[in-house]
Amino acid sequence: MTQDELKAAVADAAIKEIEPLLAKDTVLGIGTGSTANLFIDRLGALSDRFKGAVASSEASAERLKQQGIEVFELNSVGSVPVYIDGADEVNDHLHMIKGGGAALTREKIVAACAERFICIADGSKRVDRLGAFPLPVEVIPMARSYVARELVKLGADPVYRQGVVTDNGNQIIDCFDFMIADPVAMEARINAIVGVVTNGLFAARGADVLLLGTAEGVKRQT
Ligand code: 5RP
Repeated sequence: MTQDELKAAVADAAIKEIEPLLAKDTVLGIGTGSTANLFIDRLGALSDRFKGAVASSEASAERLKQQGIEVFELNSVGSVPVYIDGADEVNDHLHMIKGGGAALTREKIVAACAERFICIADGSKRVDRLGAFPLPVEVIPMARSYVARELVKLGADPVYRQGVVTDNGNQIIDCFDFMIADPVAMEARINAIVGVVTNGLFAARGADVLLLGTAEGVKRQT
């Protein structure tokens, strides 16, 4: 199976996973990226069975609207029973690296609000140790060089993602060559650098369920 077919298979599996949660007052949390897009495209057929969604990016909000799904501001929503999103890497503890699409901060906010996080990913995203994928860090623009110097002290090789402005008006630094032994500690350490908005480690709040697309089928891990 191709990577796209594996992503489609986990999007199908995620629809089955969330169907029992759908009710007239349900507002779903929806992530960003190509796997999340496949999920959004399938969700359109169920749009009359739930209230709407909060999105982790302007791009996902637009795609949801195209599917006839109402998009709500997070501040106007009381509870988010489930958040569905992809990942760039995921380990056995369901800690993740996210933010390849530069949406990490809003993704982390919606994930924090959600009662359950369902990670949908093709098998190539499964790793023993996080860090082969460059860890994204969203920074306030004026702090970029300072934050980069601090990241070097932590052992990373930081590279400015040229030409990218996040939905929040900020910039992204990608940390290369940064194998992460303790994701929970490193997430907190990077977030403590002045000028960092957030980093792409999702470890303090990891996923609750992983739907992983493999050649043997979709594997479910909790
Ligand atoms: C965007 C993300 C995505 O979830 C992550 O990059 C995975 O994307 P894809 O499903 O396209 O592989 O964190 O900021």
